[in-house]
Amino acid sequence: MKVLITGAGGQLGRDLVEAFAEVAPGVGDLIAIEHGNLDVGDEDAVRAAVDAYRPEVVVNAAAWTDVDGCETDPARAHRVNALGPWWLARACARRGARLITVSTDHVFSGPAPVDGAGQPRGWSEFDAVAPVNAYGRSKAAGDELVRRTLAEHHIVRTSWVSGARGRNFVATMLQLARERGEVAVVDDQFGSPTWTRDLARAIVELARSDRYGTWNRTNRGTCSWYELAAAVFEMSGVEADLTPQPSSALERPAPRPAWSVLDPLHAEASGLLELPHWRDALERLLEEMKG
Ligand SMILES: NC(=O)c1ccc[n+]([C@@H]2O[C@H](COP(=O)([O-])OP(=O)(O)OC[C@H]3O[C@@H](n4cnc5c(N)ncnc54)[C@H](OP(=O)(O)O)[C@@H]3O)[C@@H](O)[C@H]2O)c1
Repeated sequence: MKVLITGAGGQLGRDLVEAFAEVAPGVGDLIAIEHGNLDVGDEDAVRAAVDAYRPEVVVNAAAWTDVDGCETDPARAHRVNALGPWWLARACARRGARLITVSTDHVFSGPAPVDGAGQPRGWSEFDAVAPVNAYGRSKAAGDELVRRTLAEHHIVRTSWVSGARGRNFVATMLQLARERGEVAVVDDQFGSPTWTRDLARAIVELARSDRYGTWNRTNRGTCSWYELAAAVFEMSGVEADLTPQPSSALERPAPRPAWSVLDPLHAEASGLLELPHWRDALERLLEEMKG
Protein backbone atom coordinates (compact mmCIF):
# COMPACT_ATOMS: atom_id res chain seq x y z
CA MET A 1 0.00 0.00 0.00
CA LYS A 2 1.44 3.39 -0.99
CA VAL A 3 0.53 6.03 1.59
CA LEU A 4 0.96 9.82 1.70
CA ILE A 5 0.59 11.50 5.10
CA THR A 6 0.01 15.27 5.34
CA GLY A 7 0.61 17.21 8.56
CA ALA A 8 3.20 14.54 9.37
CA GLY A 9 4.94 16.75 11.95
CA GLY A 10 1.90 17.05 14.26
CA GLN A 11 1.36 14.89 17.33
CA LEU A 12 -0.94 12.47 15.48
CA GLY A 13 1.05 12.80 12.24
CA ARG A 14 4.25 11.56 13.87
CA ASP A 15 2.60 8.46 15.32
CA LEU A 16 0.80 7.81 12.03
CA VAL A 17 4.16 7.77 10.26
CA GLU A 18 5.40 5.07 12.65
CA ALA A 19 2.18 3.05 12.47
CA PHE A 20 2.07 3.13 8.65
CA ALA A 21 5.77 2.24 8.35
CA GLU A 22 4.75 -1.31 9.27
CA VAL A 23 2.14 -1.63 6.51
CA ALA A 24 3.94 0.40 3.84
CA PRO A 25 7.48 -0.92 4.27
CA GLY A 26 8.77 -0.64 0.69
CA VAL A 27 11.09 2.13 -0.45
CA GLY A 28 8.89 5.05 -1.52
CA ASP A 29 5.72 3.42 -0.15
CA LEU A 30 5.41 5.90 2.70
CA ILE A 31 5.57 9.61 1.96
CA ALA A 32 5.35 11.78 5.07
CA ILE A 33 5.03 15.50 4.37
CA GLU A 34 5.20 18.15 7.06
CA HIS A 35 3.54 21.56 6.96
CA GLY A 36 6.73 23.29 5.76
CA ASN A 37 6.76 21.13 2.63
CA LEU A 38 3.05 21.04 1.83
CA ASP A 39 0.38 23.58 2.76
CA VAL A 40 -2.92 21.70 2.41
CA GLY A 41 -4.68 25.03 1.87
CA ASP A 42 -2.78 25.50 -1.41
CA GLU A 43 -4.84 23.78 -4.10
CA ASP A 44 -2.09 23.69 -6.74
CA ALA A 45 0.50 22.34 -4.30
CA VAL A 46 -1.88 19.60 -3.12
CA ARG A 47 -2.68 18.53 -6.68
CA ALA A 48 1.01 18.54 -7.61
CA ALA A 49 1.95 16.39 -4.60
CA VAL A 50 -0.74 13.78 -5.25
CA ASP A 51 0.10 13.75 -8.97
CA ALA A 52 3.81 13.36 -8.26
CA TYR A 53 3.67 10.64 -5.59
CA ARG A 54 0.57 8.79 -6.84
CA PRO A 55 -0.42 7.34 -3.44
CA GLU A 56 -3.18 4.77 -3.09
CA VAL A 57 -4.19 6.27 0.25
CA VAL A 58 -3.81 9.85 1.49
CA VAL A 59 -4.00 10.35 5.26
CA ASN A 60 -4.68 13.94 6.26
CA ALA A 61 -3.39 14.74 9.75
CA ALA A 62 -2.94 18.43 8.91
CA ALA A 63 -5.22 20.92 10.61
CA TRP A 64 -5.20 24.27 12.33
CA THR A 65 -6.01 23.00 15.83
CA ASP A 66 -5.74 26.28 17.75
CA VAL A 67 -9.41 26.54 18.77
CA ASP A 68 -9.17 30.14 20.01
CA GLY A 69 -7.01 31.14 17.03
CA CYS A 70 -9.70 29.79 14.68
CA GLU A 71 -12.30 31.92 16.46
CA THR A 72 -10.37 35.12 15.80
CA ASP A 73 -9.33 34.16 12.24
CA PRO A 74 -12.17 32.05 10.77
CA ALA A 75 -10.94 32.64 7.21
CA ARG A 76 -7.64 30.91 8.00
CA ALA A 77 -9.54 28.13 9.80
CA HIS A 78 -11.69 27.61 6.72
CA ARG A 79 -8.71 27.61 4.38
CA VAL A 80 -6.83 24.92 6.32
CA ASN A 81 -9.59 22.81 7.88
CA ALA A 82 -12.31 22.98 5.20
CA LEU A 83 -10.54 23.71 1.90
CA GLY A 84 -7.49 21.58 2.79
CA PRO A 85 -9.46 18.29 2.96
CA TRP A 86 -11.45 19.36 -0.12
CA TRP A 87 -8.33 19.94 -2.22
CA LEU A 88 -7.04 16.56 -1.05
CA ALA A 89 -10.35 14.86 -1.91
CA ARG A 90 -10.36 16.44 -5.38
CA ALA A 91 -6.76 15.41 -6.01
CA CYS A 92 -7.55 11.86 -4.83
CA ALA A 93 -10.61 11.71 -7.11
CA ARG A 94 -8.43 12.61 -10.13
CA ARG A 95 -5.95 9.85 -9.29
CA GLY A 96 -8.27 7.12 -7.99
CA ALA A 97 -6.79 7.38 -4.49
CA ARG A 98 -8.64 7.04 -1.19
CA LEU A 99 -8.63 9.72 1.52
CA ILE A 100 -8.60 9.38 5.29
CA THR A 101 -9.12 12.71 7.04
CA VAL A 102 -9.36 13.40 10.76
CA SER A 103 -12.28 15.28 12.28
CA THR A 104 -13.29 16.32 15.76
CA ASP A 105 -15.79 16.23 18.63
CA HIS A 106 -16.10 20.01 18.13
CA VAL A 107 -18.60 19.37 15.31
CA PHE A 108 -21.10 18.71 18.13
CA SER A 109 -22.45 20.94 20.90
CA GLY A 110 -25.23 21.16 23.43
CA PRO A 111 -26.26 18.86 26.25
CA ALA A 112 -25.77 15.09 26.06
CA PRO A 113 -28.37 13.24 24.00
CA VAL A 114 -30.13 10.48 25.94
CA ASP A 115 -30.70 6.82 25.15
CA GLY A 116 -33.97 4.90 25.41
CA ALA A 117 -33.51 4.55 29.17
CA GLY A 118 -33.04 8.30 29.60
CA GLN A 119 -29.29 7.94 30.22
CA PRO A 120 -26.74 10.25 28.58
CA ARG A 121 -25.12 8.72 25.50
CA GLY A 122 -22.29 9.78 23.20
CA TRP A 123 -22.82 11.41 19.82
CA SER A 124 -23.01 8.65 17.23
CA GLU A 125 -21.73 8.86 13.68
CA PHE A 126 -25.29 9.71 12.54
CA ASP A 127 -26.24 12.49 14.96
CA ALA A 128 -26.67 15.89 13.32
CA VAL A 129 -23.66 18.16 13.70
CA ALA A 130 -24.04 21.55 15.42
CA PRO A 131 -20.63 23.16 15.88
CA VAL A 132 -20.38 25.82 18.55
CA ASN A 133 -17.18 27.52 17.42
CA ALA A 134 -15.28 28.48 14.25
CA TYR A 135 -12.89 25.52 14.57
CA GLY A 136 -15.83 23.09 14.68
CA ARG A 137 -17.57 24.85 11.78
CA SER A 138 -14.42 24.67 9.66
CA LYS A 139 -13.93 20.96 10.41
CA ALA A 140 -17.61 20.15 9.76
CA ALA A 141 -17.38 22.01 6.44
CA GLY A 142 -14.26 20.01 5.51
CA ASP A 143 -16.04 16.74 6.32
CA GLU A 144 -19.02 17.70 4.16
CA LEU A 145 -16.85 18.78 1.22
CA VAL A 146 -15.00 15.46 1.37
CA ARG A 147 -18.27 13.49 1.42
CA ARG A 148 -19.55 15.35 -1.64
CA THR A 149 -16.32 14.93 -3.60
CA LEU A 150 -14.99 11.43 -3.05
CA ALA A 151 -16.97 8.26 -2.31
CA GLU A 152 -13.81 6.46 -1.16
CA HIS A 153 -13.31 8.51 2.00
CA HIS A 154 -12.89 7.67 5.66
CA ILE A 155 -13.67 10.55 8.03
CA VAL A 156 -12.28 9.73 11.47
CA ARG A 157 -13.86 11.72 14.28
CA THR A 158 -11.86 11.78 17.47
CA SER A 159 -11.56 13.78 20.70
CA TRP A 160 -9.18 15.06 23.40
CA VAL A 161 -6.06 13.83 21.60
CA SER A 162 -2.66 13.50 23.32
CA GLY A 163 0.61 12.07 22.08
CA ALA A 164 4.05 11.84 23.64
CA ARG A 165 5.44 14.36 21.17
CA GLY A 166 2.99 17.24 21.08
CA ARG A 167 1.31 20.11 22.80
CA ASN A 168 -1.73 18.71 24.57
CA PHE A 169 -3.65 18.68 27.84
CA VAL A 170 -1.58 15.93 29.49
CA ALA A 171 1.72 17.68 28.73
CA THR A 172 0.26 21.02 29.89
CA MET A 173 -0.90 19.54 33.21
CA LEU A 174 2.55 18.09 33.92
CA GLN A 175 4.20 21.39 33.00
CA LEU A 176 1.84 23.49 35.19
CA ALA A 177 2.34 21.14 38.12
CA ARG A 178 6.10 21.49 37.78
CA GLU A 179 6.07 25.27 37.35
CA ARG A 180 3.29 26.34 39.72
CA GLY A 181 2.36 23.34 41.87
CA GLU A 182 -1.32 24.25 41.62
CA VAL A 183 -3.81 23.86 38.78
CA ALA A 184 -7.50 24.74 38.37
CA VAL A 185 -9.30 22.60 35.76
CA VAL A 186 -12.85 22.68 34.40
CA ASP A 187 -15.14 19.94 35.67
CA ASP A 188 -18.21 20.64 33.50
CA GLN A 189 -16.90 19.50 30.09
CA PHE A 190 -16.88 15.78 29.33
CA GLY A 191 -15.17 13.75 26.63
CA SER A 192 -13.11 10.68 25.79
CA PRO A 193 -9.34 11.19 26.02
CA THR A 194 -7.57 9.55 23.10
CA TRP A 195 -3.94 8.50 22.74
CA THR A 196 -2.36 9.10 19.33
CA ARG A 197 -0.84 5.58 19.21
CA ASP A 198 -4.24 3.90 19.60
CA LEU A 199 -5.82 6.35 17.15
CA ALA A 200 -3.05 5.69 14.62
CA ARG A 201 -3.72 1.94 14.88
CA ALA A 202 -7.43 2.56 14.26
CA ILE A 203 -6.56 4.67 11.21
CA VAL A 204 -4.28 1.96 9.81
CA GLU A 205 -7.17 -0.49 10.25
CA LEU A 206 -9.40 1.77 8.15
CA ALA A 207 -6.70 2.23 5.52
CA ARG A 208 -6.58 -1.53 5.06
CA SER A 209 -10.37 -1.82 4.84
CA ASP A 210 -13.18 -0.82 2.53
CA ARG A 211 -15.13 0.76 5.39
CA TYR A 212 -15.92 4.12 3.79
CA GLY A 213 -17.83 6.87 5.58
CA THR A 214 -17.66 8.58 8.97
CA TRP A 215 -16.30 6.78 12.02
CA ASN A 216 -16.00 7.71 15.69
CA ARG A 217 -12.60 6.55 16.90
CA THR A 218 -11.63 7.46 20.49
CA ASN A 219 -10.35 5.57 23.49
CA ARG A 220 -13.23 4.04 25.45
CA GLY A 221 -14.74 5.66 28.56
CA THR A 222 -15.63 9.20 29.55
CA CYS A 223 -14.41 11.76 32.04
CA SER A 224 -14.24 15.51 32.69
CA TRP A 225 -11.06 17.52 32.14
CA TYR A 226 -10.77 17.68 35.94
CA GLU A 227 -10.95 13.88 36.22
CA LEU A 228 -8.38 13.55 33.46
CA ALA A 229 -6.00 15.92 35.27
CA ALA A 230 -6.49 13.96 38.50
CA ALA A 231 -5.64 10.72 36.68
CA VAL A 232 -2.51 12.30 35.13
CA PHE A 233 -1.22 13.33 38.57
CA GLU A 234 -2.19 10.05 40.23
CA MET A 235 -0.59 7.84 37.56
CA SER A 236 2.55 9.93 37.12
CA GLY A 237 3.05 10.41 40.88
CA VAL A 238 3.34 14.17 40.37
CA GLU A 239 2.22 16.30 43.32
CA ALA A 240 -0.14 19.16 42.43
CA ASP A 241 -2.83 21.12 44.18
CA LEU A 242 -5.76 20.44 41.83
CA THR A 243 -9.05 22.35 42.10
CA PRO A 244 -12.20 22.11 39.96
CA GLN A 245 -13.63 25.19 38.28
CA PRO A 246 -16.59 25.90 35.97
CA SER A 247 -16.04 26.71 32.28
CA SER A 248 -17.59 30.12 32.96
CA ALA A 249 -14.49 31.00 35.03
CA LEU A 250 -12.38 30.93 31.85
CA GLU A 251 -12.60 33.82 29.42
CA ARG A 252 -11.65 32.37 26.06
CA PRO A 253 -12.55 33.58 22.55
CA ALA A 254 -14.08 30.24 21.53
CA PRO A 255 -16.83 28.43 23.43
CA ARG A 256 -16.18 24.72 23.99
CA PRO A 257 -18.71 21.89 23.68
CA ALA A 258 -19.83 20.71 27.13
CA TRP A 259 -20.47 17.15 25.96
CA SER A 260 -17.74 15.85 23.64
CA VAL A 261 -18.36 12.13 24.10
CA LEU A 262 -18.37 10.19 20.83
CA ASP A 263 -20.15 6.83 20.62
CA PRO A 264 -18.51 4.38 18.16
CA LEU A 265 -21.94 2.90 17.39
CA HIS A 266 -21.42 2.53 13.64
CA ALA A 267 -17.71 1.66 13.92
CA GLU A 268 -18.16 -1.22 16.33
CA ALA A 269 -21.37 -2.52 14.73
CA SER A 270 -19.39 -2.60 11.46
CA GLY A 271 -16.70 -4.77 13.05
CA LEU A 272 -13.98 -2.17 13.56
CA LEU A 273 -11.53 -2.52 16.43
CA GLU A 274 -12.68 -1.55 19.93
CA LEU A 275 -10.12 0.89 21.33
CA PRO A 276 -8.79 0.41 24.89
CA HIS A 277 -10.10 2.41 27.86
CA TRP A 278 -8.63 5.92 28.21
CA ARG A 279 -7.07 5.09 31.60
CA ASP A 280 -5.17 2.20 30.02
CA ALA A 281 -4.10 4.48 27.17
CA LEU A 282 -3.04 7.22 29.61
CA GLU A 283 -0.79 4.81 31.48
CA ARG A 284 0.96 3.88 28.24
CA LEU A 285 1.19 7.54 27.16
CA LEU A 286 2.78 8.59 30.47
CA GLU A 287 5.23 5.71 30.18
CA GLU A 288 6.15 6.85 26.67
CA MET A 289 6.50 10.47 27.84
CA LYS A 290 9.07 9.38 30.44
CA GLY A 291 11.20 8.65 27.42
N1 LIG B 1 -5.69 17.76 19.48
C1 LIG B 1 -6.94 17.38 19.78
O1 LIG B 1 -7.34 17.36 20.96
C2 LIG B 1 -7.87 16.94 18.70
C3 LIG B 1 -9.18 16.57 19.06
C4 LIG B 1 -10.06 16.14 18.05
C5 LIG B 1 -9.63 16.08 16.74
N2 LIG B 1 -8.35 16.47 16.43
C6 LIG B 1 -7.94 16.40 15.03
O2 LIG B 1 -6.88 15.47 14.94
C7 LIG B 1 -6.03 15.83 13.83
C8 LIG B 1 -4.58 15.85 14.30
O3 LIG B 1 -4.46 16.83 15.31
P1 LIG B 1 -3.17 16.94 16.25
O4 LIG B 1 -3.66 16.85 17.64
O5 LIG B 1 -2.09 16.01 15.77
O6 LIG B 1 -2.78 18.46 15.96
P2 LIG B 1 -1.36 19.14 15.79
O7 LIG B 1 -0.37 18.50 16.71
O8 LIG B 1 -1.64 20.60 15.92
O9 LIG B 1 -0.94 18.78 14.31
C9 LIG B 1 -1.50 19.41 13.19
C10 LIG B 1 -0.41 19.52 12.16
O10 LIG B 1 -0.97 20.16 11.01
C11 LIG B 1 -0.01 21.10 10.56
N3 LIG B 1 -0.66 22.14 9.77
C12 LIG B 1 -1.29 23.27 10.19
N4 LIG B 1 -1.70 23.97 9.11
C13 LIG B 1 -1.32 23.29 8.01
C14 LIG B 1 -1.44 23.51 6.62
N5 LIG B 1 -2.04 24.62 6.13
N6 LIG B 1 -0.93 22.60 5.76
C15 LIG B 1 -0.28 21.50 6.23
N7 LIG B 1 -0.13 21.23 7.54
C16 LIG B 1 -0.65 22.13 8.42
C17 LIG B 1 0.63 21.64 11.80
O11 LIG B 1 1.87 22.22 11.49
P3 LIG B 1 2.37 23.55 12.28
O12 LIG B 1 2.39 23.19 13.72
O13 LIG B 1 3.72 23.78 11.67
O14 LIG B 1 1.39 24.61 11.94
C18 LIG B 1 0.79 20.37 12.62
O15 LIG B 1 1.99 19.70 12.31
C19 LIG B 1 -6.56 17.16 13.32
O16 LIG B 1 -7.40 16.93 12.22
C20 LIG B 1 -7.39 17.70 14.48
O17 LIG B 1 -8.42 18.57 14.04
C21 LIG B 1 -7.47 16.87 17.38
